[in-house]
Amino acid sequence: MHNEHTNQHFQLRIDNGEYIEAKDYMPDGYRKHLIRQISQHAHSEVIGMQPEGNWITRAPSLRSKQILLAKIQDEGGHGLYLYSAAETLGISRVELIDQLHSGKAKYSNIFNYPALNWADIGAIGWLVDGAAIVNQVSLQRTSYGPYSRAMVRICKEESFHQRQGYEIMANMMKGTKEQREMAQDAMNRWWWPALMMFGPHDTDSPHSSDAVKWKIKRETNDELRQKFIDKTVQQAEIIGLTIPDKDLKFNEKTGHYDIGKINWDEFHRVINGNGPCNKQRMEHHIKYHNEGAWVREAAEAYKKKRLAKQLEIA
Ligand code: 3HC
Repeated sequence: MHNEHTNQHFQLRIDNGEYIEAKDYMPDGYRKHLIRQISQHAHSEVIGMQPEGNWITRAPSLRSKQILLAKIQDEGGHGLYLYSAAETLGISRVELIDQLHSGKAKYSNIFNYPALNWADIGAIGWLVDGAAIVNQVSLQRTSYGPYSRAMVRICKEESFHQRQGYEIMANMMKGTKEQREMAQDAMNRWWWPALMMFGPHDTDSPHSSDAVKWKIKRETNDELRQKFIDKTVQQAEIIGLTIPDKDLKFNEKTGHYDIGKINWDEFHRVINGNGPCNKQRMEHHIKYHNEGAWVREAAEAYKKKRLAKQLEIA
């Protein structure tokens, strides 16, 4: 009889396509891997609210302001689902936030670039959320139950994010010469960092072999990146945008687009704290986290009071 609490039994469950739940036996490595990935995913959702938040007061119409507000609110909610999923693995919210503030935990490279104008808001929705959808649709089948369920919920909202971004770009490409140039400039600045969102090439990814073995990742970084490229190149062509890659070429043999070299030096510089906005993003998060301390203290005090009352009655 297999002892339920062994790595062999665990791997058998994974190989059988079973979902692992919080109370199930899991190897420490699986738990640590998930805490790292889910928490960084959550941090990305919350930090990603900053570049878009800067454009709420500058949105060109009431409609676009409403859409942007709804999107940013969604991102905050995605962060909360994901922090809650990470907490089921035995880490507290305080520890998660400390890891972000100390630089121990990363967040997606993409949010360290500035949103310079309204076309950037279109490019973020279309390219960044578009890349996130490709990654997150795949993650719906991740082996950890709470993460998978969070993904199912999040993916329902992501397609609206991507579509509203594409609509902004399509409208600008039907606009004046200046608007078309603005949209193309945003495309040129966001295309390559969006490709980097999928992580290093599989051959350079230290976590992918475990992630695939434990079915945390159901597709690899390069597989997902390729899916995103094949889909997005066609969307760009439809609205008249040019992909900023002179080596982009459809490969009749593979049926996919081949691309030029990704600048991994830029990727490592940005994810290690030296991107255009890293300092600003962290200062902003720390400032408002500290200013919000009173809300957390009040909620904590209320929780304690309620608990004491229930114990009195019991
Ligand atoms: N940005 C920052 N760091 C990255 C990165 C990126 N785009 N891609 C990889 N890295 C880091 C990894 O975190 C790891 O560093 P660590 O050991 O300090 O954690 C290192 O580079 C090696 O990368 P690996 O590919 O080996 O790491 P993973 O197996 O974790 O794969 C990943 C990276 C594909 C991003 C994977 O973690 C993943 O799928 N995460 C969930 C999705 C996610 O986090 N998306 C972020 C965007 S969320 C978003 O866009 C919100 C949307 O609503 C706008």
